[in-house]
Amino acid sequence: MALMEAGYQVVIVDNLENSSDKVLSRIESITGTSPVFIRADLRETTTITKIFEEYPISSVVHFAGLKAVGESVENPAKYYDNNIGSTLSLINAMKSSAVSTLVFSSSATVYSPSEEPPFDEEAVRGPTNPYGMSKYFIEQILTDVALADENWSIGLLRYFNPIGAHPTGLIGEMPTGIPNNLVPYIMQVAVEKLEKLYIFGDDYETPDGSCIRDYVHVVDLARGHLAALRFLEGVNGTHVWNLGTGKGSSVLELVKTVEEVIGKPIPRETVGRREGDIPVVFADVEKASNELAWRAENTLKRMCLDHWNWQRQNPDGYQ
Ligand code: WQD
Repeated sequence: MALMEAGYQVVIVDNLENSSDKVLSRIESITGTSPVFIRADLRETTTITKIFEEYPISSVVHFAGLKAVGESVENPAKYYDNNIGSTLSLINAMKSSAVSTLVFSSSATVYSPSEEPPFDEEAVRGPTNPYGMSKYFIEQILTDVALADENWSIGLLRYFNPIGAHPTGLIGEMPTGIPNNLVPYIMQVAVEKLEKLYIFGDDYETPDGSCIRDYVHVVDLARGHLAALRFLEGVNGTHVWNLGTGKGSSVLELVKTVEEVIGKPIPRETVGRREGDIPVVFADVEKASNELAWRAENTLKRMCLDHWNWQRQNPDGYQ
């Protein structure tokens, strides 16, 4: 939507495995325009190539991918096939259509837990789960593609912890099944779809004992994609940017902020640590600030307000 509001003409391609086409009418109600939508799986290279033949596509923003860490551990082959297979197919379709500008939705989960925060873009990578590994492999594939052909312009955006929703409350995240991530889980407790929040450990070496993360508003993320696309116009090669706030917030701080926003307590129980959780993760965001003139603008409270506004208006997502 940020691209449309910036004057880009957008073609959305999605297999709807983890999303809903009901979002299209909501985009139209916000922007006044309904984007072109094609239901297709990126792994169908012939279908995707036809889209490039039918529409004068100049660049691609590649969001498509499965992203549940826990599910990726249970079913790694599904994640590698979907996330990497889709990307390889997309690259081939782009190559046959001479389109060579791509912004990729990567993740801070590519960084190694051995690194000390704040993580900058040069921090050692070392994902600890198949989801993060798929993002790592895709970054490497895209980097190699750009090394082999200097016409390619690649932007790798390493998201930290995206939360929030569109301020209208019309568009937001709709996790399928029980949410893996903290904020969607809290919000489903807030609308009483879930009984209580389980806090995975309060015995970490942090000020309040709970893990720290860099939560960033999805609207700020969207602005980051726009800034990356603009940077890549006339610039070749591969470029990497962290998209975070550069500030860490603990689980307990987040719960407290949500309680302030919704005006009622969140029922909770502290249980054991979750396997694989890293105590402290937050971004060094100087590179995006210097090269993209991009910084996250929304506060944690605004993120929680917008997420709550979405959740209470859409307790069952886009149903
Ligand atoms: C945050 C903190 C949990 C749930 C994700 C994924 C991936 C990535 C964003 C883009 C941790 C605690 C959580 C709950 C809890 N997205 N928690 N109770 O672990 O940073 O990873 O980051 O790539 O989706 O990698 O995010 O929201 O799962 O957990 O106490 O019910 O909340 O222990 O400390 P995380 P998260």
